[in-house]
Amino acid sequence: MRNALNGLRFRRISGSLGAEVSGVDLSRDLDDHTVAAIRTGLLEHLVLVFRDQSLEPSSLAAFARRFGKLNRHPYVKPLAGHPDVFRIVKEPEDVHHFGNGWHSDLSYAERPALATMLYATELPPYGGDTLFADMRAAWHALSDGMKAMIEGLVAVFSNERTYGPDAARFRHGVKKMEVAQQSEITRVEHPVVRTHPETGEKALYLNPLHTVGLKDMTAEESKPLIDYLCRHAVRPEFLCRVRWQPGSLAFWDNRATMHYAVDDFAGHRRVMTRVTLEGDQPR
Ligand code: SIN
Repeated sequence: MRNALNGLRFRRISGSLGAEVSGVDLSRDLDDHTVAAIRTGLLEHLVLVFRDQSLEPSSLAAFARRFGKLNRHPYVKPLAGHPDVFRIVKEPEDVHHFGNGWHSDLSYAERPALATMLYATELPPYGGDTLFADMRAAWHALSDGMKAMIEGLVAVFSNERTYGPDAARFRHGVKKMEVAQQSEITRVEHPVVRTHPETGEKALYLNPLHTVGLKDMTAEESKPLIDYLCRHAVRPEFLCRVRWQPGSLAFWDNRATMHYAVDDFAGHRRVMTRVTLEGDQPR
């Protein structure tokens, strides 16, 4: 386990994933070696947390562009003048919290997000943390029999629980004000066991928010298996928890993680600024 790369220091925050990174000011124009060291750190730790940063939407987007093409969210309204950046806002009176369910960003798309950066813009006095699950560790911990049974299975993903007409029933639906355009309900298929395109490592790829079935199986057959794998994937040993502070930025790899925005700050405001990197088709 490396703990220093090109002057950056990585301090693990849990046994399976996540590291705090120090020794870098992300608002500066970073050299290629530093960007490469951050990318190497991301592939190893899956979730990187940078503290005490000072990022405007433009510097956040500029930093993110060093890692790939930015994604324009299909439904959520971008910030004025920053088409690739949006805010996740929970007002004191809001009942829905965006991301309050285990998921991997844009897994309902043909090409789900490679990675996401989230910057703490305004925090509640307590709570509002984000949990992350290591889907590589979840895959490795399965028995050989279960691995053999699920390798080759294809899962069906949809945005219906988050953006569909009855999204509120799942308590994860976004608020009308966040939606820029009428969302089209989509269904796509991805392998349940995904091979990371950069590291070649296998990871489980399914989540309770967007995985709605398994291909060629009935709901009765697929639901218990999806439920089991999603429950298994969030065993405490596979998790880390990011406690936000003003100026924190988290950068996570959606190809091998799930995350969950904890809704425990009713009556308070939380504002986060997000950019997302375009990904490839899971294989
Ligand atoms: C998200 O799912 O992108 C939001 C996570 C959070 O706000 O903590």
